[in-house]
Amino acid sequence: MKRRDFLMSVGALAATPMVGLQTAAQAADATTTLVAEPVTTQLLPLGNPATAMLGINGSSPGPLLRMKQGERQSIRFDNQIDQGSALHWHGLRIDNAMDGVPGLTQDLVQPKGGFDYILNPPDAGTFWYHSHNRSWEQVARGLYGPIIVEESSPPDVDRDIVVMVDDWRLTQTGALAPGYDNMHDQAHQGRLGNYARALFDDEGSVQRGQRLRLRLINVATDRVFPLKLAGVEGQVVALDGMPLSKPRPLTEMLMAPAQRVDIIADVVSDEAVVILAPLRDGEFSLGELAVKGAAQTPRTAGIAPLPAHRLAQPDLVKSEDILVKMEGGAMNPRMMALDSIWALGGRTGLDQDPVMRIARGKTARMRLANETLFPHGIHLHGHHFYELAADGSLGDLRDTTLIMPEETREIVCVFDNPGKWLLHCHMLGHQAAGMKTWVEVT
Ligand code: C2O
Ligand code: CU
Repeated sequence: MKRRDFLMSVGALAATPMVGLQTAAQAADATTTLVAEPVTTQLLPLGNPATAMLGINGSSPGPLLRMKQGERQSIRFDNQIDQGSALHWHGLRIDNAMDGVPGLTQDLVQPKGGFDYILNPPDAGTFWYHSHNRSWEQVARGLYGPIIVEESSPPDVDRDIVVMVDDWRLTQTGALAPGYDNMHDQAHQGRLGNYARALFDDEGSVQRGQRLRLRLINVATDRVFPLKLAGVEGQVVALDGMPLSKPRPLTEMLMAPAQRVDIIADVVSDEAVVILAPLRDGEFSLGELAVKGAAQTPRTAGIAPLPAHRLAQPDLVKSEDILVKMEGGAMNPRMMALDSIWALGGRTGLDQDPVMRIARGKTARMRLANETLFPHGIHLHGHHFYELAADGSLGDLRDTTLIMPEETREIVCVFDNPGKWLLHCHMLGHQAAGMKTWVEVT
């Protein structure tokens, strides 16, 4: 994406009442309209052809939505593409009816149709929205955008920058390659792109000594991105919109599709802050911010933790335990026994029955066992969960957890949000080929 496109989209949104800019008194009446429509984007460097995609309000990614913690947001979704669609608010712990999953929480929004979403985001942090119908196609074609839920007293930084990493499969003429339902892709790592880059919401230059908040979001449909930053020194302060009680040194990261990492870091280079993907055949630059000049008064204060969110405490003594297996995929002799390429918790696709029914407020301990030869990024809707550390203690709070081949990850979740919640692989090609199920909280 070209910087100009993203800025244009933000400008265009300002013409409609922008949620984050409303005062509390106006907020209840202010409606943001998000129109899904065909767009053209300069994905490739200038001089190359532009790419026909899907976007929101004229661009892909769609506009950055700024919300205030706990404040009601009203969003009108207007579907002007030629397929049914719906918007999901990834990571926001909101009402089930607003979760945006056709066939589970709402009807499909038909072409030329609309849907009114009311969101009440309880947690400040970095989130995103994306299509949740034929997501392996519609997200690959560009139907997504970032969400910032602002802290009531944000950390002291000079710049707050969203960095979305994505990859696309492009033809020689820069068009999106067809074949979204390719079974070979789906049985392996999904639809991996042949072109990747970082998309900044603000590409303006930074200064040496400035303190930045960088909000990394992996919006790729299927690619797990190893990422590294050059030109800054700092700390990781939040994962998937959940503050770390103790910020961690910034090292190399591995981000599953849909995961987010919030970083607060000081610019230590005179040239550039670079987003790098260290891959097997070398370190690739996904994008960079130029450094121009130096800050007058660089900060000396350390990086403090962000204020913790209010989540129910898990009850590990009276938890309900369940084993959820990931099965199937290429090179797996047992794949033939399944009625689709992948299975999750013994289910393939949206079964009549959930993988688990649980009473509201109860704690579940789920053993996610990856019995396949591929990594999976498993996402639970409507809740955050703890990853259990090797010693059984509560680890990071996440909404999407990356599980490597033959690995088992235990997660612990207090199911305090009633409704029908999807549990699925966020490698969207895997989801397309059966790797999804749901949990009912009664
Ligand atoms: Cu990011 Cu089921 O979604
Ligand atoms: Cu998967």
